[in-house]
Amino acid sequence: MRDEPDLTPQPIGERLLAWYDRHARVLPWRIGPAERAAGRLPDPYRVWVSEIMLQQTTVAAVLAPYDRFVRRWPDLSSLAQAEDADIMAAWAGLGYYRRAHNLLQSARLVMREHGGELPRSERDLRSLPGIGAYTAGAIAAIAFDQPTVAMDGNAERVMARLGAIEQPMSRAKTRLRALAFHHAPHSRPGDYVQAIMDLGATICRPADPLCDQCPCRDSCLAFANDLHSSLPRRETRAKRPTRCGFAYIGRDASGRWLMERRPSGGLLGGMLGWPTSDWGNTFIAAPPASGDWQPIAGEVTHVFTHFTLILRLMIADGLPPDPPPGCHFIDPQAFDPAHLPTLMRKAFAEAARHFEPLPNTSQ
Ligand code: ADE
Repeated sequence: MRDEPDLTPQPIGERLLAWYDRHARVLPWRIGPAERAAGRLPDPYRVWVSEIMLQQTTVAAVLAPYDRFVRRWPDLSSLAQAEDADIMAAWAGLGYYRRAHNLLQSARLVMREHGGELPRSERDLRSLPGIGAYTAGAIAAIAFDQPTVAMDGNAERVMARLGAIEQPMSRAKTRLRALAFHHAPHSRPGDYVQAIMDLGATICRPADPLCDQCPCRDSCLAFANDLHSSLPRRETRAKRPTRCGFAYIGRDASGRWLMERRPSGGLLGGMLGWPTSDWGNTFIAAPPASGDWQPIAGEVTHVFTHFTLILRLMIADGLPPDPPPGCHFIDPQAFDPAHLPTLMRKAFAEAARHFEPLPNTSQ
């Protein structure tokens, strides 16, 4: 196996840009190549919000929440003035809730310390909460046309194939990044970064790459060596452990739901949800309040990055009206499951049919 990056392949940057000019996806945060060539500049705020939402989340899943988000908070100063709870509710269903918290903290910091303008350099962008190497590169290139690259799993896969890199991607990061710079065109760094994203999403797909439609095929060492279906090599992954707990879905006598806002910093930090026991190796009950808690059939399983969670469900009606510490009641009229994280929404979907409709409410 070679140790140094093989930088001999013909740079594909210009060919990739020509392909992008014809095939760029139309995306709501994007200034397409024709408009860009006509001088229209991207709005750095919209680029930033999109890149944060797209961390760990697919384009398809981001489209609708992104649209709602930028309609409601169209610029940095409106975001900086938003209520934390409104941002967290707008993020419901997207997962990785720390991103929403970081976005808000960053907006306030940029208003306070950068005169309301998002920094332009990768280094300064990285000083904002929630912006790592990939996101800083993406924003610097797309929003400000800084000559850099943005290496996420998709860009790494494209480079691993172009360079026929045999190591798993996690062990070849420096080589893959060097290859991305090697292939960069002389101009249009923002379009280059986005062209790699589009090529990775539509042609150089994880499985079944469409090599016959690829503008880079003649320079692709994986294709030349019939490795395009076997690269990148699989990572060896430890098995994901399981954690267990109980979720408590309860109402008081007037039909108000007992909920807690999860502490910021932890999983689902800052999000509203049903009180739960600790998530541990075994099921240990820990009701949040006294009441006639009854088990219901049907567990909820949810896959987090580092573990799978299984929650058993307990329900109670007619809880005492004083909420325990850390919890509060929510009126049924104000309760919207769409504002809950997916895990909590799944728990409600299982539990809801076990509750009698309340007299004189729309429930
Ligand atoms: N994935 C991450 N950032 C993206 C972007 N700006 N456009 C499309 N897909 C992306």
